[in-house]
Amino acid sequence: MKKLSITSTIEEYDSSAELNADDQALLAKAKDAGKNAYAPYSAFHVGAALRLENGVIVTGNNQENVAYPSGLCAERVAIFSAGANYPNVAVNTIAITCASAKFSVNRPLSPCGACRQVIAEYERKGGKDIRIILAGETGAVYIVSAMKDLLPLSFEADELKA
Ligand code: THU
Repeated sequence: MKKLSITSTIEEYDSSAELNADDQALLAKAKDAGKNAYAPYSAFHVGAALRLENGVIVTGNNQENVAYPSGLCAERVAIFSAGANYPNVAVNTIAITCASAKFSVNRPLSPCGACRQVIAEYERKGGKDIRIILAGETGAVYIVSAMKDLLPLSFEADELKA
């Protein structure tokens, strides 16, 4: 028996003011996108903004539905939109943030497992690590240098391709 260890490093900044100008601008786009979320059931507004390798920024926000599982997280709305409109352009960075009508979010949002899985596949598809910026309404900001760091041992099976 061998023990395999999985480690990943996350950069923690005290606030968004410590980020570089490009990252601050992307996070601001994510915050703006979150304002347009359709979240009448959770009142939890998530915004995502992706910077593609060609400099284009694509945004998304969570879209809920009365049949709850039919809704979609902000990250997947954004990355599927990028995949649909810029199918051959890799994603460089994704900023994700949230705000709640019910409480103050003072720590970084942690993306759900399904979004990690989807982003991990686009990371492999693009052949380039996707940086991830995670923030709440206030407080610390995390930067992760690749989705594979947030989803080690992710399911991938190139054999499934026809
Ligand atoms: N949500 C996201 O959009 N992204 C996440 O990473 C976590 C959760 C949304 C889904 C739902 O509309 C609301 O937040 C509450 O779970």
